[in-house]
Amino acid sequence: MKVKKAVIPAAGYGTRMLPITKAQPKEMVPVVHKPVIQYVVEEAYHSGIKDILIITGKGKRAIEDHFDRSDVPKPNHYVSELDRILEEVDIFFVRQKEQKGLGDAVRYAESFVDDEPFALLLGDTITFPPCTRELIQIYSRYKTSIVAVEEVPIEKVSLYGVVACKELEDSVYLIEDLVEKPSVDEAPSNLAILGRYILTPEIFECIKETKPGKGGEIQLTDAMRILNTRERMYAYLFKGRRYDIGNKVDWLKANIELAVEDEEVGGEIREFIRSME
Ligand code: G1P
Repeated sequence: MKVKKAVIPAAGYGTRMLPITKAQPKEMVPVVHKPVIQYVVEEAYHSGIKDILIITGKGKRAIEDHFDRSDVPKPNHYVSELDRILEEVDIFFVRQKEQKGLGDAVRYAESFVDDEPFALLLGDTITFPPCTRELIQIYSRYKTSIVAVEEVPIEKVSLYGVVACKELEDSVYLIEDLVEKPSVDEAPSNLAILGRYILTPEIFECIKETKPGKGGEIQLTDAMRILNTRERMYAYLFKGRRYDIGNKVDWLKANIELAVEDEEVGGEIREFIRSME
């Protein structure tokens, strides 16, 4: 079965980005020309997906407004590009009733997903090139759940879900275990879950069985741990770039790197950076 649907959780607090996120969702924080969530929707679109569910919640209304067709008299290139995508994709919204964790948020996608595998893209994370496109290619060969991972410095494992796994072929691993935000001592590896997944619908039953974990929240990683006892799961080592915009340093790096490479502002920004040296 092909992956035709994407789910984008965008319901979490932006605590690490305060006070920027005091009155706006972290998914609306700008990176050069566009808010983060626009990059995420564009990634789903460029991965061949036309049905997208965004899971929002309290204080997230700006996200819905952003995906209306624009009515500005002279739309710039970025507005027109989004309008063009919006002609082809359908975006649905559902609100998480209470912030009870990522696993709980994903549970709201059950009726949208129905009985199909789906792509899950965290709404505060950007990847280049589109990681979801690579995961879909791997899915077409293995036909089971796949989690994108990247190597992180060992002292950073406690910020991520971490996988224990065995390499099967270049960049593809069989998952043996998953641990949400382990300490350095508990971490089974330094392969961190980066916020892009392909999941089979069996995940929903596993979420229902998941007890609150780290931070008292229903963790998606804990639900995937149950899933891993029921079906084979793979990890894919993503070699591209990933920015976690829920984190100030990553957000600033994303702005600098993408601005330097940008056609419109890159020249001036490169000159400016040189002038600072
Ligand atoms: C979430 C997941 C974690 C994953 C991370 C990627 O954590 O729970 O497994 O590694 O996203 O950014 P959060 O960043 O929401 O605390």
